[in-house]
This record gives sequence, C-alpha cells and structure tokens, in this order.
Amino acid sequence: MRTDTPRAIRLKDYRPPAFLIDHVDLDVALEPARTRVRARLTVRPNPGAAADMEPLRLDGEHLELDLIRLDGKDLRLGTDYDISDVGLTIKAPPRGAFRLETVTYIDPDANKALQGLYRSRGVYCTQCEAQGYRRITYFVDRPDVLSTYRVRIEADVEQAPVLLSNGNPVERGTLDRGRRHYAIWHDPHPKPCYLFALVGGRFGSIASSFETMSGRKVDLGVYVEPGLEARAHWAMDSLKRAMRWDEQRFGREYDLDVFNIVAVSDFNLGAMENKGLNIFNDRLILASPDTATDMMFEAIESVVAHEYFHNWTGNRITCRDWFQLCLKEGLTVFRDQEFSGDERSATVQRITDVRQLRAHQFPEDAGPMAHPVRPSSYIEINNFYTATVYEKGAELVRMLRTLVGATAFRAGMDLYFTRHDGDAATIEQFLDCFALTSGRDLTQFMTWYEQAGTPQLVCSLAYDARARRAEFAVEQVLPPTPGETRKRPQHIPVKIGLVGPDGRDMPLRLDNGEAIDDGVIHVTRRRQHFTFTGLTARPVASLLRGFSAPVNLTIDRTDRDLEFLMANDSDLFNRWQAANSYATRTLVQIVAALKEGRRSSRGAAYARALGASIRDDKLEPAYRAELLKLPTQSDIAREIGRDVDTDHIHRAHRQLSRLVATTLAAELAQLYKSMSNKGAFSPDAKSAGRRALRNAVLTLLVQRGEPKDIALAVKHFESATNMTDEAHALFLLAAAGGRVRDAALERFYERWRHDHLVIDTWFAAQAISPQSDTVDRVRALTTHPLFSITTPNKVRALVGNFATMNPVQFNRPDGTGYQLVAEQVLAIDRFNPQVAARLLNCYRSWRALEPTRRRAARKALARVAAGPHLSRDVYEIVSRMLDT
Ligand code: BES
Ligand code: ZN
Repeated sequence: MRTDTPRAIRLKDYRPPAFLIDHVDLDVALEPARTRVRARLTVRPNPGAAADMEPLRLDGEHLELDLIRLDGKDLRLGTDYDISDVGLTIKAPPRGAFRLETVTYIDPDANKALQGLYRSRGVYCTQCEAQGYRRITYFVDRPDVLSTYRVRIEADVEQAPVLLSNGNPVERGTLDRGRRHYAIWHDPHPKPCYLFALVGGRFGSIASSFETMSGRKVDLGVYVEPGLEARAHWAMDSLKRAMRWDEQRFGREYDLDVFNIVAVSDFNLGAMENKGLNIFNDRLILASPDTATDMMFEAIESVVAHEYFHNWTGNRITCRDWFQLCLKEGLTVFRDQEFSGDERSATVQRITDVRQLRAHQFPEDAGPMAHPVRPSSYIEINNFYTATVYEKGAELVRMLRTLVGATAFRAGMDLYFTRHDGDAATIEQFLDCFALTSGRDLTQFMTWYEQAGTPQLVCSLAYDARARRAEFAVEQVLPPTPGETRKRPQHIPVKIGLVGPDGRDMPLRLDNGEAIDDGVIHVTRRRQHFTFTGLTARPVASLLRGFSAPVNLTIDRTDRDLEFLMANDSDLFNRWQAANSYATRTLVQIVAALKEGRRSSRGAAYARALGASIRDDKLEPAYRAELLKLPTQSDIAREIGRDVDTDHIHRAHRQLSRLVATTLAAELAQLYKSMSNKGAFSPDAKSAGRRALRNAVLTLLVQRGEPKDIALAVKHFESATNMTDEAHALFLLAAAGGRVRDAALERFYERWRHDHLVIDTWFAAQAISPQSDTVDRVRALTTHPLFSITTPNKVRALVGNFATMNPVQFNRPDGTGYQLVAEQVLAIDRFNPQVAARLLNCYRSWRALEPTRRRAARKALARVAAGPHLSRDVYEIVSRMLDT
C-alpha cells in the first residue's frame, strides 16, 4: 500500500483563481518523441480575487522546461521561480498584466496514459479534460480560467499532412523546402484549457456543410483512418441532424466557420467536445452495415449529438470547478436523450435510458462509491465521470422540467444561455434561472444534487368502495450512504394514473377539490397521504409513469394487477415496467426456490401475459423487443440485494427463458419469420426495431437449447447480411459452447481479423460466454497478437466485458475471475490509471455477494490495494471499496 495518502479536494475550499490568462499563443512543433511547445501567455491578476502578493502557480506534469521568460526577461530557478513534479511557481509576479513565455518538451510516443498529447497509430492527438493540458505546457489548469487561443502547429508533411486545432483556420504554409509545413488556427471564443485540442496525422476525410438558422455556412469535416472514409457518413449525417435539432428545440446555433470531428484508435473514453474539434474514439464514428450493429449506429448518433450539444452546454457556458461537472454532463446527457427520443421512439428511448440508469447508477448509489450528483470532495476528478453525474444528473434535469412545466423549462434554458454565456457557472446559477421563470422555490429540489443514494418510495393504495375514495399513502425512505446517514426529504414528482376496470384512466381529483391535470403529485415530506375521490370502481395504480423520478418503488400488487397493467396502461413506459416487474418478481421466486433446493413452477402466467403483449401489432417492433428482453442477471442480483449467488441467478434466468420460449414457441417462430430482412439494409429506427425483435426472439429460442434452435442460430449467423445479425448470433453461439462455438468464432476471426474495430466483437463474445473455460480463455487472449493492453478498446472488449457482462464466470466461487481482473488492473495502472480505475468498478457490489464469493472478491481487492505505486485513481477507488 502506498504511504503518501493522496489529499482530497473539497468544494467548500473553492477560491477564485488569483490570476487570469486572457490569451494563449501556442507554437507546437510535432516530433514523435520530442515535441516542442512554445507558449506565450497574457496574464493579469484576477480583479475578483484577493491576489495581492500571491505567487503565480502553474500546473505542469511530465514536462521538460527549456526556457521561461517574463516580459522578455529570463527567470532564474530558485530566485524567481521554483519547479516540482506537479508545477511551477513564479514567486513574485508583477502587480499588473504581463506576458509569460515558456518552452517545454514533451514525449508523445511515451504517453500511454492517453492524457495530454499522445500518438495513436501514428496520429498525434490530445485529450485535456479534466486535467490533461498540464501535460502539454505550464498553465493554470482549471475550468474557470478562460482564454482565447492562437495555435501554430508545425510537423513533417509526410507524417502529418493534416494539422487541426480549435476555432477557425487562419493560415498554412510549407517550410524546409516542402519537407515540413505549418497551420495556424484561431479560436475567438474564450475557453478553459480542458477544451483545447490539437491533431496531426494522415487521415482520410469527408466534407459537408451546414447552413445555420441565421444563414451562416459552416464547413463540416469528419477525419478517419485513410481508406475508411465510407464508414464516416453516418457520423456526418448524425452531426447535421443534431445541429438542426439544437436550433429547433433549444434555439441554439453553431458559432464558428468550421466544425471538425476526428476519429482516433486509442482513446480513454468515448468522445470529447473540444471547441470546434471534437475527438472521438473511432468505434463511435466508424459505421457501415457490414461492420457496425444497429446499437453502434444508435450510439454514434447519440454521442455525436452529445458532443455537439456541449458547444452550448459545456463550452459557451462551462463549469466553475469540477464539482459542477453535472452542470455540463447531466444537462448534455438529458439533451442527447431528448434528441434520440425525437429521432427514434420516445418510449423505447426512455426504456433504454431507465434500464441504463438502473444497471449502472443504482448500484453505484448503493455501493461504496456512492456520491451526490454534485460531489463535495474528490481525490481524483477522473473518478467522478460517473453514472451518477451523467445519468442521474440527466434525470434531475428531466425532473426539473416536470416540476416547472415545459414552458417555464424552455424559458429557463433561454435565460441560462443569455445570462451565463461566456461564464464558468454553478448548479445554483443554473437552478436560479428556472426558479425565476417558474416562480417556484427550488430550494428543496437542490437536495437532489447534494444527497447521495436512491430514495425508496414505499406506497400503498387503499380503496373504499362505499366512499368511492382511494387513499394513496407514500413514505420516502432515504437509505444511508458512506459518510451520509441522516438525510433531508427530497422533492419527488410522482406521475400517477389510476386505471379503471375498463382499462381507462380515471380522473384524478383530490379530496380538497384540486384536479391533477398533469398527473403529477408532489411528494415533499417523509410521509404523505393523498385521497382521490369520485372513483366508482377499484383502480389499479400506475405509478411513476415515464419514470418521473430516479427512485425505487415498492407497492403491494398482485400478479393480476401486473397482467392488467401490461395489457392496459395508457402509459407505454409503465406497460413495459409492469412486464419487467412481473418478470423480476418471478425470477426472484425461482432463485429462492433454487436456494432451498426446490423446483419452482413459477413463470407460466408471466409467459402467457407476455405472449398477449407481443402479439399486439399496434406496438412497434422495437418496443416489443424490449418486452421480450428478460431482466438481466445483474437486475436480478440487484433486486435480491444480499447473499447473492450468481449461479442460482444464472439458472433461474435460463429456466424462465426456456419456459417463455416453450410456452410461446408458436408466436416466437411466427415473429421470427415475419420480421426477417427484406430489401437493402437501412440503419433507421424502424428497420433496426424489426432486427431487434427478431434477434430477441432468437435469444429466447436458443435458450430452449433444442438442436433445431441451435441450428437456427447457426443459420442466422451464416446467412447474416449485416453486423447486427452476425454479431448477435456470434454471441449466442459463443455462449452455447461446444463445436458450434468454435466454428462460429473461427469463421468470424477469419473474416474480420484485419479490422481492428470489428475484431473487438470477437474478443467480447469470448469474454462474456458463460462456459466454464472462459477465465482460461480470457487469460490466453491477453497474449493474443491482436490484443494490446495499451489500447483501451481492447482492454474494454476483453477484460471489461468479462468483468461487467459475465456475472457467472467473473463471480466464480473459486475467485479466479476476480483474480484475473485484479492482475489486469495492476498491470494497466502502471501506465494508464484512468482505464485501470474504471475497470475496478466491476467489484462495486462485492458486499452483496454470498460469503464465499465475498471473501474471494475481498482478497482480489486487497491484492490491488497492496500494489506498489498505485495511482491516485486506483487508490481512491480501491480504498473506498475496502472501507467498512
Ligand atoms: N466531456 C466528456 C469526455 C470526458 C469524460 C472527459 C471523462 C474526461 C473524462 C464527453 O462529453 C463525454 O461525456 N463523453 C462520454 C460519452 C457521452 C455520450 C456520455 C464518454 O466518453 O463516455
Ligand atoms: Zn459529455
């Protein structure tokens, strides 16, 4: 274990910066192992801070300083400035404005942390959020220091014919008799340094243009590996649709002459919103029908939109400090969810977003890493780009809209954009805009940003036939989270419907005469009662329609109630929810039976109800596909909550899948046929929905496991004309094991071994197979020639998928799954802490396991904790995980 405990940074310690940097003039001469960075900064004391006599502290890491001059005069080490591993201090800077010039050298080739400037497959690129800019040059690396930039890049023409940076192009030219060249870029919009970007390399590109709502023309470019240009069109198309949507839905127009997207192969994250120059993980740009699944097309559309939307929510208005991260991320996720909902099906989008929230954010909130949407302290900020900040952050914006109404919400957004354009803002300032436009007091709502944990709503509905009333009682239980035991009640908007025996919604009228037109009741106290009147029959409660708040819900409901809601609820989200709750309940009962060594006969009624739903042609295929997807094994584990035995869950899951497949055999066969591919491939939502439904059917049929079902999967695989079907069948066959698995994997490998993106599917299929030899296979694959531990996509495809998508083999009672991941974490932490720390998240629910597995998981975690020279990133996560 390390001895120097890293220090926590606290929100309450925020102070404005002592100095501002108005302008940055950068001159970067690209060389693989020795890049020269000359920076000329225009600095002045911050009038808004008590900066008198303060030294100027510049952040800087892994830099070799060659020159430092203040107003043209060389500074002397020790006398004028000091230098350390983490920065440089100018002891007595002038009281007024001054110019500071530095020359530093950096080594892009040696940079495997992929933060700052690095080289990926011969391409120079940068990643500066959150604190990567300090690995490029000395700077005040914090988001509330905003500067305009002029950037000159110089490089070898052969090595880097394309030179890009933020803003608009100004000039380019050749040097050294054509061997070298340069490009100058200017970004007139003041920005924090985390939005700085620079790219140099050989690319193929596609170009297009966009006319903004005020009639300005913007040149658009997507840069990819040479030869893959044809796979860039979907990203370009998504970009244009996102630009139009932001104008129409939020009145936001783009503000530079160019917008470029660059795809790179080594990237810690998905994508980054650098001003005017978004940099993407190439898996989130490149798509063609034969290489990318519908899910990837959808992901590309949404991530391209997300990064574009940051231009207003993140770039024009940025964050005052990193504690306010949800100000840009939660809001931008909300915006990209709305975009996807409008482009596709709003209901299906909501279902997938809620699934995602429950799968990632709920366990985070229930585990050792629980933190508020706006955390109040951190050791390493990179560890706080979490499901809580992102997904729960988006839910808070959605709730805010529910609370203030669509009109005041839009007015509040408009006010936010005009009031804070050019600012580094806070959550308080954001909320204040909506308080103003709605006239509502949002003080209690703010609690959502400050308290961790998923509230539990314990509800009951009692119907009094004689009085024709129903009494709805609700209690909000706020479970304790690490460091936070007593909690204040939160403002929870609960969208509710009372469904009458005819399947129609009954009017919502309270005993005080108030009619609830929007269907939303406001739970603000720990315990509350609502009495609904004028009810001529017993209603069935449809609660939390559209998932109106990120909470857990308990209410006594019979199987008949759930079947009724599955068939009748006017809220399609809740129809799906009823099916999902019914399946979950059934699965939990089967697990309980397995635990007691009984065989459970549960599931037939659920299967019949499901059959009725999927026969309903009025429901779109994509929606029916969602109905057919059983809760995942992790969903069941979460529901069970303690003493989790992943083998029981796996068996229960199979048992119910088989029962559904057998009960609905005729319907499923018919659906499989009727959803078959017709005509040319199109990635649109409707066609994708048909493929999703057909593939969901196949998944169930294969669980039945009869030779004819396996044969169908083989045929599906071999006759696939697109990657959606091909990959889906590959996953099923790899899971089935035996000869069909080996044949499918071999065929896929031969076909795609030369495609560094598609081959990740081959790694993933093996990593998530529940077959008992998976741990050995994964270990063997870590030495496969196509695997590379320094490429995050490879690590995620093999190790990440194994750790998060393979509950049975990762959680083997012998602990070998845990050990394998622990070893990888330690190996990766030596050069890429960010990726190592993320991988560790797979252990976050370890305390909920049954004792044998719990002991084995603890041992693996202890082994990580004992690693020498742990990064701050891994240290923070592992110590929280082991904390009692
Ligand atoms: N600003 C982030 C990228 C980022 C993440 C920088 C973590 C530093 C640390 C970007 O806007 C983002 O959110 N990217 C997501 C994808 C998005 C669609 C949720 C990502 O990279 O996972
Ligand atoms: Zn983002």
